[in-house]
Amino acid sequence: MFEGKTILTGVKPTGTPHLGNYLGAIRPAIQLGKQALATGGKHFMFIADYHAINAEKDPVVLREKLREIACIYLAGGLDPTKSVFYRQSDIPEIPEITTILYAYTPKGLMNKSHAYKAQVDKNRESGKPDDDGINMGLYTYPTLMAADILAYDTDIVPVGKDQVQHVEIARDIAGAINAHYHRELLKQPEYYVDEHVAVVPGVDGRKMSKSYGNVIPLFEDDKTIKKAIFSIKTDSRPMEEPKNPDEILVYEIYKAIATPQQLQEMGDGLRQGKLGYGHIKNMLLDAVINEIKDAREKYNYYMAHFNEVEDMLAQGAEKARPYAKKTLERLKNAVFGNE
Ligand code: TRP
Repeated sequence: MFEGKTILTGVKPTGTPHLGNYLGAIRPAIQLGKQALATGGKHFMFIADYHAINAEKDPVVLREKLREIACIYLAGGLDPTKSVFYRQSDIPEIPEITTILYAYTPKGLMNKSHAYKAQVDKNRESGKPDDDGINMGLYTYPTLMAADILAYDTDIVPVGKDQVQHVEIARDIAGAINAHYHRELLKQPEYYVDEHVAVVPGVDGRKMSKSYGNVIPLFEDDKTIKKAIFSIKTDSRPMEEPKNPDEILVYEIYKAIATPQQLQEMGDGLRQGKLGYGHIKNMLLDAVINEIKDAREKYNYYMAHFNEVEDMLAQGAEKARPYAKKTLERLKNAVFGNE
């Protein structure tokens, strides 16, 4: 379904990605981009730093997060000579397009946006006024995101479920503008949610999330990863007691990373009472290290040579801008009657 299409992925430089993000979102996004590129399509991959400033005000933190994210994507196999890899804030046409889109963005649509509503709900729960701590950047978040998408005539936006609504908003805004001017000024994008990607539970069995403190870190040293893996919840049953692998968290996490054969081996060992928790944790550890070690080396290299990454991002922006310029021009001509 991605053959010859234009795929666009955006990522907000907040938080430090963990193994779950890497296996469940980052690597699949790079893969989809590759699929499109291999069949004559295009892949735009950018870091949404304007979106990040709504919540993060510390420039030192912002810079560090941007560095991490950029290096993680490169380490994960993104090829910046093929994918257009850039920083949102390097494309000044994006905020210009956003301004035009505002005129076609019903306020009611923003009221319904999840990101904003979640904050209002939080405020209500803690007895604060609805708008407490909400800035206009958060409120209008989906319009900027629509500009990100529409600027490049994007066909498909791969997203997690939480972002589906935002892509629909981009569709709606584009649809409203096209209807008003009786032609296809903007391409209406589709979202794509991959139902088959790995969902990696955290070490306590809940969803892996930094806010739960249950993550397996990504490109840390072996010792740190080992510590996380050995903290995975188990029980006190002895090794000899046959166990149902599906009830065992280490096995659940292993599923996201092991080959079918490896998985079979762990499953059999548990069912037959031949593998204890120490054994299976070591199996998982080996699989994780094996999975990330080449990428980790690349990651460490890019983190230490970030000037090279800066150059890649600058070149990416150069490639991206002409597309955004063309879209902006098309919009301005229509809106102001310059044709
Ligand atoms: N809102 C996305 C997120 O939080 C990031 C993002 C910004 C994005 N602009 C985008 C994603 C455009 C896809 C397309 O994850």
